[in-house]
Amino acid sequence: MPDLRSMPIAELHAYRESVEQRYTALKERRLSLNLTRGKPSDEQIALSDALLSLPGPGDYTAADGTDCRNYFGSPNGLLETRQIFAGMLGAPPEQIVIDGVSSIALMHDALTYALLTGVPGGRGPWSAEAPIAFLCPSPGYDRHFALTEGYGVKLVPVALTGHGPDVDEVERLAADPAVKGMWCVPKYSNPTGEIYAPETVKRLASMRTGAADFRLFWDNAYGVHHLTETRHELANVLEACARHGNPDRALVFGSTSKITYGGAGLGMFASSPANVAWFLDRRSRQSIGPDKLNQLRHARFLRDEAGLHRLTDAHRAILAPKFRRVQEVLGDLLGGTGVATWTDPAGGYFVSLDVMDGTAKRTVELAKQAGIQVTPAGRTFPYGKDPLDRNIRIAPSYPDVAEVGLAAEGVALSALLAATEILLQQRAVTAR
Ligand SMILES: Cc1ncc(COP(=O)(O)O)c(C=O)c1O
Repeated sequence: MPDLRSMPIAELHAYRESVEQRYTALKERRLSLNLTRGKPSDEQIALSDALLSLPGPGDYTAADGTDCRNYFGSPNGLLETRQIFAGMLGAPPEQIVIDGVSSIALMHDALTYALLTGVPGGRGPWSAEAPIAFLCPSPGYDRHFALTEGYGVKLVPVALTGHGPDVDEVERLAADPAVKGMWCVPKYSNPTGEIYAPETVKRLASMRTGAADFRLFWDNAYGVHHLTETRHELANVLEACARHGNPDRALVFGSTSKITYGGAGLGMFASSPANVAWFLDRRSRQSIGPDKLNQLRHARFLRDEAGLHRLTDAHRAILAPKFRRVQEVLGDLLGGTGVATWTDPAGGYFVSLDVMDGTAKRTVELAKQAGIQVTPAGRTFPYGKDPLDRNIRIAPSYPDVAEVGLAAEGVALSALLAATEILLQQRAVTAR
């Protein structure tokens, strides 16, 4: 496909008409497809249905003899469960806490503990130092931004490079003592799919920060969610921080929401011994202990780290064809047009599509009119504002391959309609 931006006007009109015809035909199919959130498909969830009958009658005793039906036991969660996730989190079991069903809930708790009581090495509650700020690599995860914004933390966008955030910019901004933290989705990032380069991890771990109690909120949500046979590695942030004299800088989060059950899996926190003690101290006022039976059934089901990888391989077999389909359709319809670029992630749950500047909102609206819902434009940026109005997050996990193809087609046709609308307007202005 020739570049639309330099296409002669008569050709551009004809091209737009052909796109309109395809779009109208798609609209007439009265589709109802939802690609807004990274939700595992029913087929994926069923992979873990053995959990529904685990641990099973009479099985309630953990390896250390804890009766999982009752109060107490280790506040960190069961050792056998922590052992399974030690590799994924990059921490020894004693530096891991497993609690609840959601990593976002643990991020929320860590943030509110910091706001109310401060963190190790700090001068006191972050809220007493208000206004404080968090660095937000963008496009990023909307729930991160909403969480910090909801507690009055200022959001400061930082550009991503394809290998993590622009670290020069991060170092410059982090020199401000008001900057207390940074959101990071370091592997198969949401939505760009990028993996932070080893050098980026090193610089984040070692940089000088204005705030002595600066924290990296290291959300490794997609650490084992590969889409290719290569299990890409991420540099170990806890080790890097310790090596560079900032042992308490990183708070690592993860969960099994997209491994077993979303909302009925396990939430995880890992960090330095001081941060783990801090976290558990605050937590001990909040709860007498985690749901040990849920941890036991996960340990029985997954068995060990190899079991975890077997399960994520099975997820990959279901997910990879959907991501391939998105690539095929976007390539066919948008390739060479000069009005869109998109990611081809090696893992995670999203494809990040950049359409022509100023057309993301219009594209999403047109897709919606054709029965295809994607994440609202702007959502992937702090305060819901994409300064260039160009980023669209596509989450192809839930519908089947054929539906994903139709949805990608709808989004691509919408992007072309939105782009040609603007290009033709621009031509009309220059022709005047
Ligand atoms: C980056 C990221 N972190 C966290 C979550 C949610 O995790 P949880 O279900 O463990 O709260 C998601 C879900 O889409 C995510 O994309």
